Amino acid sequence: MGKVTPDAGARTALISGVTGQDGSYLAELLLGKGYTVHGLVRRSSSFNTERIDHIYQDPHQPGGRSLVLHHADLSDGVALVNLLRELEPDEVYNLGAQSHVRVSFDAPLYTGEVTGLGTLRLLEAIRASGIDTRLYQASSSEMFGAAPPPQNERTPFHPRSPYGCAKVYAYWSTVNYREAYGMFAVNGILFNHESPRRGETFVTRKISRAVARIRAGLQDRLFLGNLNAVRDWGYAPEYVEAMWRMLQRDEPDDYVLATGVPASVRDFLRAAFEAGGLDWHEHVGFDANYERPSEVDALIGDAAKARDLLGWEPAVRWRELAELMVRADIEALDAELSGARVRIDR
Ligand code: NAP
Ligand code: GDD
Repeated sequence: MGKVTPDAGARTALISGVTGQDGSYLAELLLGKGYTVHGLVRRSSSFNTERIDHIYQDPHQPGGRSLVLHHADLSDGVALVNLLRELEPDEVYNLGAQSHVRVSFDAPLYTGEVTGLGTLRLLEAIRASGIDTRLYQASSSEMFGAAPPPQNERTPFHPRSPYGCAKVYAYWSTVNYREAYGMFAVNGILFNHESPRRGETFVTRKISRAVARIRAGLQDRLFLGNLNAVRDWGYAPEYVEAMWRMLQRDEPDDYVLATGVPASVRDFLRAAFEAGGLDWHEHVGFDANYERPSEVDALIGDAAKARDLLGWEPAVRWRELAELMVRADIEALDAELSGARVRIDR
């Protein structure tokens, strides 16, 4: 963590949420493009940098560093101003959030504080620091909530969770700073996107991990909530590419990113268990704790604008995604178990 001397001429980006699924893929992408990447990491009592450890360089080693981590938090506006003044990044990606919809019903005020007001703090920090930068805001299809599909940039919002409400607040704050202060600020309205790095409590990863663990005899049952919800699941590494493209346009605008292909939780469950050679009926039970007080029944995106203006088209669809996530979890568990065996043998 701390100071850096960037390569002369290298572009710099600041990512909040760099330790999350999208932040880790985005950091890899930007480093590959020659950026110096600064990541905002929140203080934790245990390590929370697992997703970016492979790209982090020890500051005590000789040679320049292109990924630099800074302790800060979206609840601390002064720290954000100070950091922006010090770094003067060309691009800022606001991916930090309390991003779990079910949890947002248990912690609504905290979610509003970080996911909603956190975005306003960052916008205000950019304005107060007076730097010339471009901002990407991680908006969400959760904002559409109960609005019938297909949803696109013109669909009115009808959020169904404290998380969705906080994201609507952040969305309009971003539009407002663009209109009021001429800031280059864009909203990417992203439909669900997953990967082997997806947090373990989101439904796709919960399922793919369970398949691997059931095959290995470490678990027999998997408890889920509503299997009827329909989502539009894409592959995260493809989505971060479009985030970057949004900031390379001449004018700031808002874009939906989606595959346009619907699947229910049950569809994903069946495909994932089949990929592991298992029958889901033999292992899955219902637990009402995983249901939400108000559910989002169907999210199916229309990403025609991103295709036409950003030249972005996703290739991976939900079934392939289920297969690749199951494969990755099986391989990771095999490696972990053989490592454990080696340790025991010694
Ligand atoms: P994620 O894996 O849950 O990562 C969230 C990130 O935010 C983590 O780095 C987390 O840090 C950080 N964070 C949490 N609270 C913070 C705080 N108070 N201050 C600073 N950072 C904080 O989420 P993701 O799937 O990568 O999604 C990235 C963004 O896109 C989020 O804003 C999410 O709401 C939004 N989004 C995601 C999807 C999707 O399908 N993945 C779709 C639409 C929009 P820790 O690692 O320490 O927890
Ligand atoms: N998490 C979870 N756990 N969800 C379950 C479970 C379970 O055990 N059982 C059924 N579900 C259903 C949920 O009710 C929901 O309808 C669906 O599976 C997907 O849930 P999540 O994977 O938690 O994702 P999400 O759609 O609520 O939210 C994700 O996508 C949003 C974009 O639409 C998150 O990544 C949000 O941050 C993101 O904005």
